[in-house]
Order: sequence, then C-alpha cells, then structure tokens
Amino acid sequence: MILLAANWKENPKSEKAADQLFKDVAKIIPPKGAMMAIFPPFIYLEKIVELRKKLKKKIPLGAQDVFWEEDGPFTGEVSPEMLTGLGMQYAIIGHSERRKWLKETDAMVNKKIKAALAAGLKVILCVGEPMAVRKKGEAAAMKFVGAQLAKGLKGIAPKHFKKSVTIAYEPIWAIGTGRASQAVDAVLMAEFIKAKAARGNKASRPAVLYGGSVNAKNIADFVQYKSIDGALVGGASLKAREFKKMMTAVAAVVRAAQKN
Ligand code: PGA
Repeated sequence: MILLAANWKENPKSEKAADQLFKDVAKIIPPKGAMMAIFPPFIYLEKIVELRKKLKKKIPLGAQDVFWEEDGPFTGEVSPEMLTGLGMQYAIIGHSERRKWLKETDAMVNKKIKAALAAGLKVILCVGEPMAVRKKGEAAAMKFVGAQLAKGLKGIAPKHFKKSVTIAYEPIWAIGTGRASQAVDAVLMAEFIKAKAARGNKASRPAVLYGGSVNAKNIADFVQYKSIDGALVGGASLKAREFKKMMTAVAAVVRAAQKN
C-alpha cells in the first residue's frame, strides 16, 4: 500500500480555505493499492470531520502532533484520547519543525508515541538528519537517524510496527527547499530504517515514507522502489491539483507493479 500523507502544517490561513482545500482533495480517488491521509491544523479538525461525513468519504485524518498525558494541567496540549474521540486515526510525531522550534526531544517523542499507540492512534514518526551530518556521508546520516530511532522507539514492541507505526524519513535539508533527496539515498535510508526499527525481526518491519520537497514530478522516482511505501508531503499537498497529479503518478507506479 502506498500512502500519500498530506501535512498541511500551519496552513491554510482561514477555515474557509481549509474547507475548500479539503473538498477539492476529497475528490481525488486513490487507486487500489494506494491511499491518502490528511493532517490539517488542530483548529480545523472538527469542521473537516463534519465535512468528511457530509461528503460520505472515508479519508483517514490525523493531527500533526499529540501530547502524552490523558488530561490535566498541560496548557495548550491535546491528548490522544481527544483525537480518537474526534475521529482521528493518525498522529504525526517528532516532525523536525517541532524538534527545531519547540525543542522536542527524542524522549518526548518516545512518550508521545507510547501514549498515541495506547489510545489506538496510528503514528507517523519523523526522523532525518541535518545537512551538516549528510555532508559527512551516508554512514554519518545512518548513525544520526539510528540514534533517533533507538531513542524514539525505546520500549515499544516491534509487533506494533506493522500495523500502527510508519516512519517518515525526512532529511531536514530537503524539507521545503525544493531540493529533494536522491531517490537512491532515500532507498538506502528506508532499508536501514526498516531493519533498525524491526530489530532483526523481518515480520515487524515498518512502512517507511520519504518526505522533503516531494511533488508530482518526483513522486514516482521514490515510490517506484519497494522499500519506499509513500510520501509525507508538505507544500505540494496544499494545492489540490498538484496533489491529484501526485496520486495519478502513484497510480501509474501501482499499475506497473501489478503487471510485473
Ligand atoms: P515539504 O515538507 O514537502 O514542503 O518539503 C515535507 C514535510 O515537512 O513533511
């Protein structure tokens, strides 16, 4: 299954624009073997759940973050139960923008994943190295991402991975820069991530998405490889036409794979 996960980030500016974007995106019909999931800002989620119902769509929805406590004195936070109560299936956890601007640590990411899984949410855990590390080469990038995985997934049984944990490999230098990773490098990292997360247990290898400047032109370069199970899409997911083109490109890859 190829997943196109639309991370809207802090967009669009108004609820009206969010409604329109969702309505346009909801018209996209993924082919068999592919799916999409949408991650709007918290403030729009309830309205989008209503819209989804009205449009009779089953598009999975998720939040861009979640907190680890069920309830209590945690100003500004939202619990996994609040999200499942609203009809969310997913949460993105540990996005590099949160690690950068909100100083989220691997230990916080770990708590969030545990709480989300316990509440029945599926998790997209984001990992990825900065440019300074990538410049040192593949081995350095793997060491960096390996440490993020070891700490982020600490104490979480790999049996969860197949069903409930997806890892997004997002090299920080590729996010929002228009400069995507080479597909071959992303494949190497995806293979590394699957093996590392599953700790030697082949049956527990998680799905791995690539993220960072993915668009309609380059999506096929990534998902043509079996080890890349889809993409986490930022900027290109805010334009319904572009996102639709991405799904068309994915459909071509799925068709080609079925023929072989
Ligand atoms: P981008 O963002 O597609 O705009 O590079 C990807 C992400 O941060 O998830």
